Amino acid sequence: MVNIKTVLLSVACMMALGVSAQPKLSKANIKDVVKAMTLDEKIEFLHGIGMPAASGSGPVTGSVQGKVPGAAGETQRMERLGIPAIIMADGPAGLRIDTIRSGEKRRYYTTAFPTGTILASTWNTSLVEEVGNAMGNETKEYGVDILLAPGMNIQRNLLCGRNYEYYSEDPYLTGHIAAAMVNGVQKNGVGTSVKHFAANNQETRRASVDARMSERALREIYLRAFQYVVKTTQPWTVMSSYNKLNGTFTAESKYLLTTILRDEWGFKGMVTTDWFSGKDFAAQVAAGNDLMMPGRPNETEQIKAAIANGTLSMEEVDRNIERILELVVKCPSFLGYKYSDNPDLKAHAEVSRNAATEGMVLLKNGLTPVLPLKKGMSVALLGNYSYKTIVGGTGSGEVPSAHNVSIAEGLQNAGFTINKELVALHAKYIAEEVAKLPPRTQIIQKVEAIPERLWTKDELQQLVANNDIAVITIGRIAGEGRDRKVDADYQLSEAELAMLNNASEVFHAKGKKVVAILNIDGVIDASTWADKVDAILVAWLPGVQAGNAVADVVCGKVNPSGKLAITFPKAYEDVPSAKDFPGVPAKKPQYCEYNDDIFVGYRYHNTKNVEPAYPFGYGLSYTTFSMSGLKLSGKTFNNKMTATVTVKNTGKVDGKEVVQLYLSAPVTSQEKPSEELKGFVKTKLLKPGEQQVITFTLSADDLASYYPDQSSWIADKGTYTVKVGNSSRNFLQEATFTLKNDIVTEKCHGMKN
Ligand code: BGC
Repeated sequence: MVNIKTVLLSVACMMALGVSAQPKLSKANIKDVVKAMTLDEKIEFLHGIGMPAASGSGPVTGSVQGKVPGAAGETQRMERLGIPAIIMADGPAGLRIDTIRSGEKRRYYTTAFPTGTILASTWNTSLVEEVGNAMGNETKEYGVDILLAPGMNIQRNLLCGRNYEYYSEDPYLTGHIAAAMVNGVQKNGVGTSVKHFAANNQETRRASVDARMSERALREIYLRAFQYVVKTTQPWTVMSSYNKLNGTFTAESKYLLTTILRDEWGFKGMVTTDWFSGKDFAAQVAAGNDLMMPGRPNETEQIKAAIANGTLSMEEVDRNIERILELVVKCPSFLGYKYSDNPDLKAHAEVSRNAATEGMVLLKNGLTPVLPLKKGMSVALLGNYSYKTIVGGTGSGEVPSAHNVSIAEGLQNAGFTINKELVALHAKYIAEEVAKLPPRTQIIQKVEAIPERLWTKDELQQLVANNDIAVITIGRIAGEGRDRKVDADYQLSEAELAMLNNASEVFHAKGKKVVAILNIDGVIDASTWADKVDAILVAWLPGVQAGNAVADVVCGKVNPSGKLAITFPKAYEDVPSAKDFPGVPAKKPQYCEYNDDIFVGYRYHNTKNVEPAYPFGYGLSYTTFSMSGLKLSGKTFNNKMTATVTVKNTGKVDGKEVVQLYLSAPVTSQEKPSEELKGFVKTKLLKPGEQQVITFTLSADDLASYYPDQSSWIADKGTYTVKVGNSSRNFLQEATFTLKNDIVTEKCHGMKN
């Protein structure tokens, strides 16, 4: 029997310690639970526990090995108050957890879905939502609560190492694709973490570099997609970024995390830091960065001191804890969800394959189309990455699938013949070259390229004699922790160029065609050598079913309908941020000036008349489409304007088209991009001769640009031109309307207020 004296004594002790009665956490008693925490518990609760020190980033306050090995981190559990840990795991291309668990024979594989850039290239929000749904299902069924995705930074410069995780150079496309992803994941009852908020557009010195930009560029380019996602989907969490923005670390910026995110946009969720971010933890707490991940011992000390010396208030601490608990009560771990550890990977592989085929972009297909290839053709398949196809990038966005289908395997599955000796030769060569590379022990470690083999003309002569066509894969991988290089990543190597040139010469001499497949993480030079080949298909990093998806497009089972989500320039120098990236001083950049301002990607190419190799929004099909009958709902803008246009399949095979609406705004006191994307629709699969009427609705928000001197978004009076087409440089229909008076669509808080 419990001694009554002991009970009374412990209650008295708890009261003396400031611990009130012990509520058990529920949705209704969050404030009571916060009250019931001791000061030490509160401080502990502000940070999570995380990846073991093997990550190489110093000591962390614990390790998540217990529940879901390989997860990136979790929040603190507090049994006395009924608070379970909430598990968080990466990432944007699917769930990353350890496949091996000690003492178990079975493997915990997940699905590598197509990476961000290829998902965006589908321009198909319902398909992306389906992918998100499958990712969310794996998250939930493996016992994870928050998927640390989507990555939605703007692809400002093609050298950013993490572009593969991100969607596009355009905020409208990024926002809509990211919103679809968030909706898809969250409809499973698990959360997302939209990241990295904000302006994390490079990996070089990412933990300290200061992104310096105008308030207009910040609002129109770097925040706009986040704003759309927050307002339309309420992601459960937002992840602040590593970098500084105009002098302040984003994780310490009250302006960003409270004034903009919560006061202006109405964000209701929780903000987490990126892993090991920053140094001034009290400033992070005060700014409204609710949770610090993955938790470091010195955070506790600093916060304790800040509370003691009055620089951090208990209200700020309690507020953040409440937000963490509001998240906790929504999560499967709190609700006692019995996860299966057994999601339907087979079904998800199909989802992955479908999305991959829809995001591949056909850049070139010859005057007499080369693709699709006739089934049964015998293919001289060259290039390392035809056989060791890259399915995703490196770093936290890497996903461990059971078996990745190579392009060689996919083509064979689809009935193409690949000569056995050629397969064996590649296997031997690749194994030898890989053995020379440094072993990879950490996901953040660079994956070195496997140098291409030098093909002699004699060898190629033999291949041409025995094959109908040459298919050459050029591969590029990149990822977290470092940016790409112009010579090693953007440009093709001498061996790659020799392979293309020689195969082109030998095959063309015999009247046979050459196809290039680009298995790439991001934009490469696709202009200087393009005339050597007859067709170019960008397969991106397409996920676990890579080879089957490539084969689906190559054999015509799927008609390509992907469109570029990022411009392919004619030369790296044509990238508007080329002079400034990755910052000053060159060796160890402390800051990067965003002199390109709002003129990122096609906004620059179109406005300044710099012709790209392949424009944003561009992509060929095996059929042709017409667009006609563009009609606006009126001549004058009044709250909204609808535009309808008819798209028709005028070719011979079924296909989908992306109808894109660009708007040209009147030029007033501030310069505007000559065109900006303000709407897109992917058609259904249209049969030859079939048509579909597409309707776009423009709101005043779509007309507005940001005026820093008035801290406002304003739709300027004047004449607007609606341009509808199938790329940012191919407008097939145009119509104009007028706005009679300026409209202030949004009053904001200026950077200096
Ligand atoms: C990355 C985040 C990721 C986190 C957890 C960081 O290094 O920047 O995107 O979610 O690690 O793995």
